[in-house]
Amino acid sequence: MDYTIQASTMFGIESVTADELRKLGYDDLTVENGKVTFTGDEMDIAIANVHLRTAERVLIKIAEFKATTFDELFDKTKEIEWGEIIPIHGKMHVVGKSVKSTLFSVSDCQAIVKKAVVEAMKRKYHKNEYPENGPVYKIEVAIMKDIVTLTIDTTGDGLHKRGYREFAGGAPLKETLAATMILLSRWKPDRTLVDLFTGSGTIPIEAAMIARNMAPGMNRSFVAETWPQFKNGEFKQVKDGAKAQVNYDVDVRILASDIDGHILKTARPNAQKAGVDDCIEFHTMDAKDFSSKKLTGTIITNPPYGERMGEIEEIRKIYKNLGKLSKKLPYWNMFIITSYEEFEDCFGEKATKNRKLYNGNIKCYLYQYIRKFTDKERAEVDKEKKLRKEEKENVKKAKEITKKYNEQKKAQKENNPFGKFIKKGRR
Ligand SMILES: C[S@@+](CC[C@H](N)C(=O)[O-])C[C@H]1O[C@@H](n2cnc3c(N)ncnc32)[C@H](O)[C@@H]1O
Repeated sequence: MDYTIQASTMFGIESVTADELRKLGYDDLTVENGKVTFTGDEMDIAIANVHLRTAERVLIKIAEFKATTFDELFDKTKEIEWGEIIPIHGKMHVVGKSVKSTLFSVSDCQAIVKKAVVEAMKRKYHKNEYPENGPVYKIEVAIMKDIVTLTIDTTGDGLHKRGYREFAGGAPLKETLAATMILLSRWKPDRTLVDLFTGSGTIPIEAAMIARNMAPGMNRSFVAETWPQFKNGEFKQVKDGAKAQVNYDVDVRILASDIDGHILKTARPNAQKAGVDDCIEFHTMDAKDFSSKKLTGTIITNPPYGERMGEIEEIRKIYKNLGKLSKKLPYWNMFIITSYEEFEDCFGEKATKNRKLYNGNIKCYLYQYIRKFTDKERAEVDKEKKLRKEEKENVKKAKEITKKYNEQKKAQKENNPFGKFIKKGRR
């Protein structure tokens, strides 16, 4: 069956989710506030759920219409053939929201929609009572400026729940937001990645999963898997396909540090559970002590924002130190998310770009410092890379020579009939 599918997103992330969908092969997209819409069948719903890193949920859009009275809401909802989607024992759970609309009582709208859905079901099943002891169909009635949108959720637990984060620190970043920051940075695994304020490890873990091509939903379940519409095993096929595409051979180096050694004790098992602990080096360290011999690299990080009273001076110092670090690493790209509006003043440099994003309900900006090379600088980087490659090859050669020499010596000793005698004679 063909559906209108909506990938819902946090504000500001829509275009990143649209890029992800394009890479998955979906071109006919409509990008609006908080959602990206496209068409597809059951397989496409499974693909979007398993593969999207930055979306919050995958919904089926059922209808959109104008309603300013409860009667209108009831009649237009009842017209829909809900029985074609919801099985006779399906559990109908209705949620709602209303923004700038005549129908503002969300609980009343939810009750009316539920009643209208049941009435519509009667057309198909000819029953007055419905047991509602089967798979869950969460219907959302969203009213925006009197336009009603009815959707059904296919995801269940939000897409940020990848299944690896058992332990979180005080202010963990949502996995979908961490993935967004990494995708926006255009980081590639051949470049060192550093998170200086790692906390429970969300940024390093999401980056390692991207580097290894691990689909975020390949190890979790989705509500639509329990629906009769997905009885052909679409989700299993997509998950199996995703598992087969993981690239364990990719050479990736991610450094994850935090001043708090205890919190890193939560990050390590999270990385282990995600299957990427071998890509990440964890260190307890104050961010101001970071240094690197590498000419280029990428820092993607989520420092404290100083939401509590009395923390501002400490926060300003942290941002100032980041600015100093940036001067020491002039060819490194830096991506820093914070809600602190004077960040650039403290850092001492205006960002190349910034982007408004929401960390939960907190309005933040992702400050992006993107360092462009002149041809001369590019030549220097290439020279450095060449030198490092030669160094590595020389070390490898030296090891081989030592190994051969030791083998020869051993063989000589074994072939020398006086070897033992000489040794004894010397004692
Ligand atoms: C907002 S939290 C990071 C949360 C993390 N992104 C996650 O998803 O769990 C900020 C982190 O900065 C650490 N921190 C505070 N001051 C620091 C400093 N001077 N150097 C390094 N880490 C610091 C805290 O211990 C805390 O874990």
